[in-house]
Amino acid sequence: MKQVSVMESLSSPVTRICCIGAGYVGGPSSAVLALKCPDIMVTVVDSDPAKIDAWLSTTLPVYEPGLDAVVNQVRGRNLVFSQDVAGAIHDSQMIFISVNTPTKEFGLGEGRAADLTNLEIVARLIAKHAFGSKIVVEKSTVPVRSAQSISKILRENSNGFRHQVLSNPEFLSEGNAVRDLTNPDRVLIGGDEDSEEGRLAINALRDVYLRWVSPDKILTMSTWSSELSKLAANAFLAQRISSINAIGCICEETGAEVGQVAKAVGADSRLGPSFLQASLGFGGSCFQKDILSLVYLSESLGLNPIASYFSAILKMNDYTKSRFCQTIIESLFNTVRGKRIAILGFAFKANTGDTRCSPAIHVAKTLLSDGALLRIYDPKVSEAQMRRDLNHPSISQDNILFCDDEYEACRGTHAFVVCTEWPQFRMLDFHRIYRSMDKPAYVFDGRRILDIPSLTSIGFHCEAVGRRTTKIEHIM
Ligand code: UDX
Ligand code: UDX
Repeated sequence: MKQVSVMESLSSPVTRICCIGAGYVGGPSSAVLALKCPDIMVTVVDSDPAKIDAWLSTTLPVYEPGLDAVVNQVRGRNLVFSQDVAGAIHDSQMIFISVNTPTKEFGLGEGRAADLTNLEIVARLIAKHAFGSKIVVEKSTVPVRSAQSISKILRENSNGFRHQVLSNPEFLSEGNAVRDLTNPDRVLIGGDEDSEEGRLAINALRDVYLRWVSPDKILTMSTWSSELSKLAANAFLAQRISSINAIGCICEETGAEVGQVAKAVGADSRLGPSFLQASLGFGGSCFQKDILSLVYLSESLGLNPIASYFSAILKMNDYTKSRFCQTIIESLFNTVRGKRIAILGFAFKANTGDTRCSPAIHVAKTLLSDGALLRIYDPKVSEAQMRRDLNHPSISQDNILFCDDEYEACRGTHAFVVCTEWPQFRMLDFHRIYRSMDKPAYVFDGRRILDIPSLTSIGFHCEAVGRRTTKIEHIM
């Protein structure tokens, strides 16, 4: 390959992109990129060969509505899945980094700071295999100033090439990934706005998005603003859920109904109706990790009041999950030892098979540690995944049965608990379920998707988050 100047390579049209990391973010975003840019060859690589094999098979490693159709259209056309990381880096002009950045499990910042090991590995790989100046795009959610670290690694191992690092955080929400990627609310591009090379790199990425995103939705800014915006957006979303869940607790004690309150609050055009759905707590790979990252950042800057402010969102979420479990145990006469309980839904939200930080894991572990016998069903989570999530020395696997449908899960149980808002759970034959259960038969709706008056008329004893519970009615 002929060696070209930095300016020349940054100014030439982008025709070859690679994405490192074929997970929930890297896979779907590369597929949509290939769909919208038929003239760009998109190569997706991953350090895990099994992941690549799965993307090449008929059963994709990620369940997302509409994703199969997109992948089928572009795979083999201009979307390639490959294990050749070095080759993909060498051949691409632009490299997206979509590796996972979990919370650190040990060492400095343990339990709060993001673990950037994967990011660093990838930066070193890019430095090693790049021939020519690359535009490196950080898509993984990272702590503020990560781009600076990547730049430093690249600069000091560059073999004479000058790479540009951009921040382009992904805002897709799982279960809606294809919709969010094809029609994003906004695209953020952060880069070095003060240098000519930085501006050229920003424009190169902007030109890629302009194929399908309107210019007013593409926001360019400094790298740090872009990195912080992603953490801030996730904190604001999570904060709304914690706020409505806090109101839900008051509703449970007073007789107000959280759905009615949410409707009234959300009708204010300054607030809007989204993210006001009270629940047993939020889950997912991002909210907790990103808020912890914000807390760690604030502490590192000596801003302890800011750190406590954001920590409260997570404390509220932990309280919500524990309170829901407490309601279950108290309602079942203060003990679940030896009682059969069905868990309906294990994913952290509907329309995904992802269980990372799922509140269902908290509920299952709490009930198991109190001696319950669980029967679990989720339409999209594999038994192997659930076993991994519940694998703990204190948990006997003999106390868990994984079921093929809701009816099998509920048969012979004392209670069923809705942990994920799968729409199919609304449409069950509840008369049949009631007949098959031990009496008194209890329902615990952690997602507020069930018709409580109709279940009560069948004979169920019902508890749903955010409304006055039968438990309270007994007491009053
Ligand atoms: C993404 C983002 O990148 C993360 O920052 C965000 O906060 C959550 O969403 P996600 O796609 O959900 O991560 O993670 P995951 O599904 O685990 O995919 C990451 C992929 O990167 C995995 O397939 C993993 O094998 C791969 N990887 C990891 C590499 O290819 N190289 C590495 O060095 C490390
Ligand atoms: C989130 C952000 O929405 C997305 O922009 C970012 O890129 C990644 O993190 P995700 O975690 O995939 O996306 O799903 P999201 O729809 O935000 O739900 C997160 C959790 O909050 C789920 O457990 C969901 O059930 C819960 N939730 C959501 C509520 O409990 N109530 C609500 O009103 C909304």
